[in-house]
Amino acid sequence: MDLSNSWLILFFLLAETGFCSGDQLVMPAEVSGVRGKSVNFTAQGFPGDVSMVTWTFTPKTGSSVPVYTATPTNEKVPDAYKGRVKYNRTLHTLELSSLTPTDNGVYILTVVDSKLDQMVGQTSLRVLEPVADVTITSNMPEAVEFNSTVILTCNAKGQISCTAKNQLESLTSATFNLTVNYGPELVKKTQDPVLDFMKKGSNLTMSCTAQSSPAAEFIWVFNGNILPQKTATIVLSNLGEEQSGNYSCLAYNSKTQRYVTSEVTKFSVLEAISGTSIIAPTSPLIAGNSTVNLTCTSSMGKADSVQWKKDGNPLENSNRITFSPDGKTVSILTVQKEDSGEYSCQLKNKISSDGNNYKLTINYGPDNMAIKGDKQALVGQPVRMDCSFASFPAPTFVWKFNDTVLIGEEKECLTIPNFENFNSGIYTCEAFNLITGLKRTATHNLQVKEAAQEQNGLSSGAIAGITIAVLIAVAVIIGVCIKKRRKVSEIPSPY
Ligand SMILES: *[C@@H]1O[C@H](CO)[C@@H](O)[C@H](O)[C@H]1NC(C)=O
Ligand SMILES: *[C@@H]1O[C@H](CO)[C@@H](O)[C@H](O)[C@H]1NC(C)=O
Ligand SMILES: *[C@@H]1O[C@H](CO)[C@@H](O)[C@H](O)[C@H]1NC(C)=O
Ligand SMILES: *[C@@H]1O[C@H](CO)[C@@H](O)[C@H](O)[C@H]1NC(C)=O
Ligand SMILES: *[C@@H]1O[C@H](CO)[C@@H](O)[C@H](O)[C@H]1NC(C)=O
Ligand SMILES: *[C@@H]1O[C@H](CO)[C@@H](O)[C@H](O)[C@H]1NC(C)=O
Ligand SMILES: *[C@@H]1O[C@H](CO)[C@@H](O)[C@H](O)[C@H]1NC(C)=O
Ligand SMILES: *[C@@H]1O[C@H](CO)[C@@H](O)[C@H](O)[C@H]1NC(C)=O
Ligand SMILES: *[C@@H]1O[C@H](CO)[C@@H](O)[C@H](O)[C@H]1NC(C)=O
Repeated sequence: MDLSNSWLILFFLLAETGFCSGDQLVMPAEVSGVRGKSVNFTAQGFPGDVSMVTWTFTPKTGSSVPVYTATPTNEKVPDAYKGRVKYNRTLHTLELSSLTPTDNGVYILTVVDSKLDQMVGQTSLRVLEPVADVTITSNMPEAVEFNSTVILTCNAKGQISCTAKNQLESLTSATFNLTVNYGPELVKKTQDPVLDFMKKGSNLTMSCTAQSSPAAEFIWVFNGNILPQKTATIVLSNLGEEQSGNYSCLAYNSKTQRYVTSEVTKFSVLEAISGTSIIAPTSPLIAGNSTVNLTCTSSMGKADSVQWKKDGNPLENSNRITFSPDGKTVSILTVQKEDSGEYSCQLKNKISSDGNNYKLTINYGPDNMAIKGDKQALVGQPVRMDCSFASFPAPTFVWKFNDTVLIGEEKECLTIPNFENFNSGIYTCEAFNLITGLKRTATHNLQVKEAAQEQNGLSSGAIAGITIAVLIAVAVIIGVCIKKRRKVSEIPSPY
């Protein structure tokens, strides 16, 4: 037995019997270490001159064993602790590593100074299980908002495992992502363009959004029927009238199994009006005798309203002018020549407008027949008579003298280049309108103007000669009627 062992036994006995020379080393009552890790035993109150330091271990059951012994120049580690203890002479700390549960027990430190006074301290070691396998478990993998009660459990191995911590170390579990499924909420439907009325053939985009976890699926509802599109945005291209109606979207969350519907939007698809024309009778219209229907139609599109104009002014209802209930037909009863003119109709619906014109011609006359010219003429002077009238189209003329047709005089004026006595008599202008079928006449009594006295002494023989000559003369009346046409009517001839 060497010296150190004798010392050890001595100190051991001292400790066992509670012998104490005076000063105690201050040590914590208990220290903890984690299995597999290390622990430092420290003490306060070391003497300045240490001759020997001895650590012994007393397990919970069994007898004491030495752990470590040191003198200023030497140290001894029993085989059982080789590689597991490390003593720092400066700090007087003993580090015991690779802790096992068998290290649980009391550690006694005995210090002997140069005067062979000894100091004793003790501390008990508790070896803790390391914290490990910290996890969170849930009673359900996914929760549904408002529906579910979620129980999260924190599991850990190791001593005093409450959450994930013991006195010496803590471990945080891997993040447990608790998925709370919610929604759909705030379901919103947008539309572009936002119009109550859409043009046929145009395009429309509708989108639906919702707050939801997982992301909502969408269902589109059109007039109560489900559309095949299942996307958040749908494009309706080349719209047809049959696509008019009510649209809404339904947001669906497969986890919460909730459906939430958007507000309903409504639009109508209309065809643009085109190919507008005015239908009018093809037979000629005769003033005072015809009733005219003008009808405004379009080849495409349905009109909501129609506006009629005549010569640029709105066509008004009157006792002769009436409109059909839908406004598309205007009836003019017993047309008058004033009804002639440019008629227009404009068809409108919510998305378009289209119109056309029609020139209405009323045939009338001849009316207001009169012959303008002098009532008296000097023998030897030229005479001119003009037949005035109102007619459409322009009439044909026949002139008569004393009921005898003047051949070759088919103009509206009649000229006698050289008036003779036998030219005096009744002149008739007969005008005939081929369309109205009307023939009207005007008469004019043309007499010789007695020239002061000279004409008095005309012999009866001369008169007879003149009488004979008259027929010849009438035939010789030359139509030098200057084309100075009267205004026939304000309407230019369509023929
Ligand atoms: C013990 O002390 C040493 C140095 O003195 C240090 O490196 C080590 O980390 C300590 N061990 C513990 C468990 O505190
Ligand atoms: C003892 O600890 C001190 C302070 O931590 C350090 O400086 C010194 O190197 C240690 N000595 C040994 C032998 O480990
Ligand atoms: C939990 O969610 C976060 C953020 O969403 C993600 O980064 C992480 O990887 C998730 N963890 C697991 C275990 O799914
Ligand atoms: C509507 O969309 C189609 C493509 O789907 C495109 O060819 C067409 O030009 C669009 N029409 C209008 C009026 O934008
Ligand atoms: C659209 O909804 C309205 C009520 O909002 C209803 O009167 C109408 O009949 C619906 N139209 C269609 C085509 O279902
Ligand atoms: C939510 O709760 C209601 C009523 O308790 C139930 O009918 C429904 O099926 C539940 N939804 C889910 C997704 O569990
Ligand atoms: C007027 O119309 C009636 C019946 O259509 C016809 O018999 C008559 O001849 C017409 N009169 C004129 C002046 O055109
Ligand atoms: C004109 O239209 C009306 C109805 O708008 C109809 O009763 C009438 O017979 C039509 N007349 C002609 C000449 O077409
Ligand atoms: C024409 O008629 C008038 C009056 O009726 C008569 O005075 C005149 O002699 C007639 N002239 C001829 C050429 O018959």
